Parts: sequence; structure tokens; C-alpha cells
Amino acid sequence: MIPSKKQLFDKIKPVIKDILNQQATQSEKLQQICDFLQQNIPYYDWVGFYFANLPEQKLYLQEYAGDETDHKIIPFGKGICGQVALSNQNFVVPDVKAQDNYIACSLAVKSEIVIPLFVNGQNIGQIDIDSHTPNAFSKEDETFLGWLNDQVAQKALLKS
Ligand code: SME
Repeated sequence: MIPSKKQLFDKIKPVIKDILNQQATQSEKLQQICDFLQQNIPYYDWVGFYFANLPEQKLYLQEYAGDETDHKIIPFGKGICGQVALSNQNFVVPDVKAQDNYIACSLAVKSEIVIPLFVNGQNIGQIDIDSHTPNAFSKEDETFLGWLNDQVAQKALLKS
């Protein structure tokens, strides 16, 4: 039987916690998260973390899993990612072709989700997922990825 999204995310959450609790660098942990999500969620075809450079008003791609992309630097306001840098809101795109302000990485991509990552209330970056499946993302993905970004903020980005 195909597992429901809830079953899938319930299985994945402890793995994310284990990755974040390891002795490893921030970059190694984020790379493992990208690899794990991309390999274990069938409709997550590309997974990446962009981080904001506030003085430059640009996003820089750091860790990612999936095809190489030309879009490693994205100005705030450009594309789905650049819009999230300014809006501080989740952005779910059921059909990328219907978006005017969209940066295409690959013609195979049909839908996308971008969830901002907050540290101490500041939007410092985001997780971006592309899918080759149309309308792949639901409220459950938003909730799961929001949870994931909170874990990343607490365990990998905040120095305590
Ligand atoms: N589609 C994104 C660009 C990043 S790629 O998906 C890797 C956008 O419109 O911002």
C-alpha cells in the first residue's frame, strides 16, 4: 500500500532529529537533510536551502540535492524564492506555468513549494522543493516543512 503523507512524514521526523543531533557541521547536516528528503519522498525531485544576504538583498543557494541549477544567486523579489524573501510567507505553487514571476530551473518541474526559515523571528532563508508532479504539495507539506525549518533553526543555526 502507498503510505499517506502523514505516515511518511511521521517516519521521517525522527530521522531529521537524528541528523540534526549528530556531531557534524551545519553544512553537513543540511546536505544530509536535502539528500534524505530527495531520496525518500517520491515527489520531492529537487530540495535546496537558500540563505539571505541582507545587505545585498540576494539569496544564495547553499546545500541542495537534485539536478545542478544555474540559479545559485536570486535577487530578493525575483521568482518564487525571491518573493518569499520579502513576503515572509509560505508559497505553494500548484502549476509553475501559471506564475508570471517564476524562475524555471528545468522544464520537468511542474509544481514548487518554498517555506521561509526564521531565526529569532527574522526570515534568514528558505527551503525550496521542486516536483515533477503537478499540484504535488498540500497543507501537510507546508506543516512538515515548517516543522523542519524550526528544527533546523534551533539545532543547526542558533549558536547556544
Ligand atoms: N523556481 C525558483 C528558482 C529556484 S529553482 O527552483 C532551484 C523560483 O522561481 O524562485
